[in-house]
Amino acid sequence: MNETSVLTPQQIRAQFPVLAQSVHGVPLAYLDNGATAQMPQVVRDAMNAFEQHDRANIHRGVHTLSQRATDAFENARANVKRFVGAGREHELIFTSGTTEALNMVAQGMAWSLSGEPLLRAGDEIIVSGLEHHANLLPWQQVARRTGAVLRILLPDAEGRLHPEDLRRMLSARTRVFALTACSNATGYQPPCETLLSLAAEAGAITVLDAAQAVSHGALDVSALRCDFAAFSSHKMYGPMGMGGLVGRRSLLERLAPLRLGGDMVDWVSFDEAGFAELPARLEGGTPNVGGTIGMSAAADFVTELDRAQLAAHLASLREHAVRGLQQIHGVRVLAPQDEAAAIVSFVADGVHPHDIGTLLDEAGIAVRTGYHCAQPLLDHLGVGPTTRASFAVYNTHEEVERLLGGVARAIEVLR
Ligand code: ALA
Repeated sequence: MNETSVLTPQQIRAQFPVLAQSVHGVPLAYLDNGATAQMPQVVRDAMNAFEQHDRANIHRGVHTLSQRATDAFENARANVKRFVGAGREHELIFTSGTTEALNMVAQGMAWSLSGEPLLRAGDEIIVSGLEHHANLLPWQQVARRTGAVLRILLPDAEGRLHPEDLRRMLSARTRVFALTACSNATGYQPPCETLLSLAAEAGAITVLDAAQAVSHGALDVSALRCDFAAFSSHKMYGPMGMGGLVGRRSLLERLAPLRLGGDMVDWVSFDEAGFAELPARLEGGTPNVGGTIGMSAAADFVTELDRAQLAAHLASLREHAVRGLQQIHGVRVLAPQDEAAAIVSFVADGVHPHDIGTLLDEAGIAVRTGYHCAQPLLDHLGVGPTTRASFAVYNTHEEVERLLGGVARAIEVLR
């Protein structure tokens, strides 16, 4: 039994000083964790220790601080690899977040440092209709650039994906299948295992956006038929501007780097260069070393939580919110089914989400409103922008009650 597994949400909350504040004179209820989760003190302490004692550039210095920084950076890599279940066949590339990781895959398939690029004219790219813009726009552009064909695996009217629809779309031409582990706009979790396996069996390269899944500590890339998985540190209680791409080495080796420059080469002449091995080859430029240390500390923070207890806590907060929202006249909750994650997204007849969000903010409750960077999905479902509350380990049922009261009052005022 680890230490934090026996802590109550209130005890866990004490590790997040940012939560102990008032907004508009009311205690903050922070329910925007799907956008960015807060950072515990232990993560800040790890980053401060690095900045105070070991800060230096990595891989380039013979001096002590540079060596310490390099060790800390590579230890962080090993730790985050363990956290996401990476095996011997995998490598982790540090990125600025999920968006950069997904761009690294898509753009890296369009050209090559040597040999054939992974994507060619006539290849098909299947992207699920649930995706955040970060897992759609790079594919749109790369399809245009390469002459590949972009196809969308559309969800049904409830926003669910069906394996038989994917089966019908797959063919020998399918080169890529890109999927989210959890819709950031609705909270729906598609049957990833089945969908990824179908695509992999058809010979496709599979790409998973794990941004909304990583915070629960449940991402295990070795258990999934995914070739690439992308995630962000700030959604798993770590620093912002930091993330990772874990991928099969054999495919990472064939990606063209997004960034050409320092630290990703073996030698350089005026006319040409010899490129470094993975992971440096895809990490050109000075990385966010402090960020990697924070991300690694955040992985430890999540690992030390009791995973079953965390999952049960998030599920009960969501169930409470769904049940309560459904009792408010004119409110429609998206993806109310119980397999959904810690996100609850809803619309209210005749009331704009931005107005609900503004009134909730006045009541100290932070939620997100709008398209959540998933406009094609919300337009396809015919709902448009929504109000979204998203939960983390430190949220409480009392905060859910405040959300429900706040939404009911906002709708009363606005209708
Ligand atoms: N992708 C983040 C969200 O879903 C910003 O809110």
